[in-house]
Amino acid sequence: MSADAWWKNGIVYQIYPRSFQDSDGDGIGDLRGIRNRLDHLIELGVDAVWISPIYPSPMADFGYDISDYCDIDLRFGTLADFDALAAEARARGLKLVLDFVPNHTSDQHPWFMESRASRSNPKRDWYLWRDPAPDGGPPNNWLSNFGGPAWTFDAHTGQYYCHSFLKEQPDLNWRNPEVREAMYDVLRFWLRRGVDGFRIDVLYHLVKDDQFRDNPPNPDFVAGGDPAHRLLPVYTTDRPEMQDIIIEMRRVVDEFSDPQSTRVLIGELYLPLARLMAYYGRTEDGLLQGVQLPFNFQLLAAKWQAAEIDHIVRNYEAALPQGAAPNWVLGNHDKPRIASRVGQERARLAAMLLLSLRGTPTLYYGDEIGLTDVPIPPEEVQDPFEKNDPGKGLGRDPQRTPMQWSGTAPNAGFTTGTPWLRLGGDWEHRNVESQAGDPASMLALYRRLIALRRREPALHEGSHEPLDAGADVMAYARSAGTRRLVVLLNFGTSEKPISIDLVPAGGVVLASTHAHRSGIVAGALILEPLEGVIVSRA
Ligand code: GLC
Ligand code: MG
Repeated sequence: MSADAWWKNGIVYQIYPRSFQDSDGDGIGDLRGIRNRLDHLIELGVDAVWISPIYPSPMADFGYDISDYCDIDLRFGTLADFDALAAEARARGLKLVLDFVPNHTSDQHPWFMESRASRSNPKRDWYLWRDPAPDGGPPNNWLSNFGGPAWTFDAHTGQYYCHSFLKEQPDLNWRNPEVREAMYDVLRFWLRRGVDGFRIDVLYHLVKDDQFRDNPPNPDFVAGGDPAHRLLPVYTTDRPEMQDIIIEMRRVVDEFSDPQSTRVLIGELYLPLARLMAYYGRTEDGLLQGVQLPFNFQLLAAKWQAAEIDHIVRNYEAALPQGAAPNWVLGNHDKPRIASRVGQERARLAAMLLLSLRGTPTLYYGDEIGLTDVPIPPEEVQDPFEKNDPGKGLGRDPQRTPMQWSGTAPNAGFTTGTPWLRLGGDWEHRNVESQAGDPASMLALYRRLIALRRREPALHEGSHEPLDAGADVMAYARSAGTRRLVVLLNFGTSEKPISIDLVPAGGVVLASTHAHRSGIVAGALILEPLEGVIVSRA
């Protein structure tokens, strides 16, 4: 097995730690909780777990505002709990990926407290400080992604500091070599503790224009939409300097790669396709030098139609640089859940798509049981994004609700206390325990598809060939050696006969989204409405 196999051919599972499993009754998920639930991940069949931030944090943005990069927040546990989790994960063959948040610290981080203490403090230049505009207002028009200006005035020193997110999340100055070294040492700290890689938060934001030029208006902005989209982030994201930074980061993780297993970087990048590709990095000696997996988020926004998705997949495959590893994502803690976006039936088709495409799939916890967005009443809202601009549907609480484990234990087995966010109203029937025993369940489908992907090289490392199967049906072949599997996904709500050129009689159905389909294809294959199948030649 190649050293890259685990992240190239494997499956990543994202845990939002506040909501996975609480072990101490405080209503907040924690590291011991995760450790107690490793069985679920093993039975599911995933290869790696990515855990959203677990570091000490004032929790203004639920852990994405970090006050110490090299410790564990007490709500989640201790470094000893972390080591125990890491050891057990390793013993069970699971890789561990942590969240790395380099763009900003918490305003409570000692670095920022020093930086704001005086204009002459040695850490002053670790953050982005600017004089007010002549009228006393912010230095330029940059906007925070969470509403309002990206600048907050600090009366003590008479300057503004830059924050791409909350004012409690001041942006680090990535042009400063000391900042870079300090942050690379953070990576080394966790790599030494045995971590297998990092998901890098808002990677495309790290460097800002050195002349602090105004961002231009966005001609496509629709009134009433997310106010941060009023301007095009030309001078605040995806700056040319990023290309050297990703190479530096990659060198740091490569220091810790060994012949059995490489360390991986996964980049959070909401960028147009061509720009996304740039984050694989430059090629030297025939090898890409950047981030191994620049997150491909196209399915998160796609219209759920065969033609649209087919188009996305073909374009993505065509755009990949030589030697680049593809990847696909259906959900994360920032976006509405797939089961709510497309409904439960289509979410089954989505599962088959995700788990049969070429490229590393990332699953979001709960999607394997068809968890939906949970409406959160205004008085229970937690997410600052929603609090800053209520009623626009910007809030991310609905997709962060507790995992539903059991239909009989209090709070679905998530906590014995009061959960930090309410559970879905459906937990008594939608939970891991009840779905585990039901072959028609979403969980059973996920387990079957993952098992199939693991045992079929055609699926986990084979080539991809788009096929034409008529309107509403997306089709492709996955092949390795002489083995060729055909995937057919009927996005339509009527039956679809499939040409015998695509699936000859005698083909074997290896998986279907519909529990009752099985066995050999006799005559022509007719897909049921919203059915997906994976078929092998006889
Ligand atoms: C990323 C995270 C999001 C967070 C933001 C600021 O987009 O995924 O949850 O709020 O960065 O750190
Ligand atoms: Mg807890």
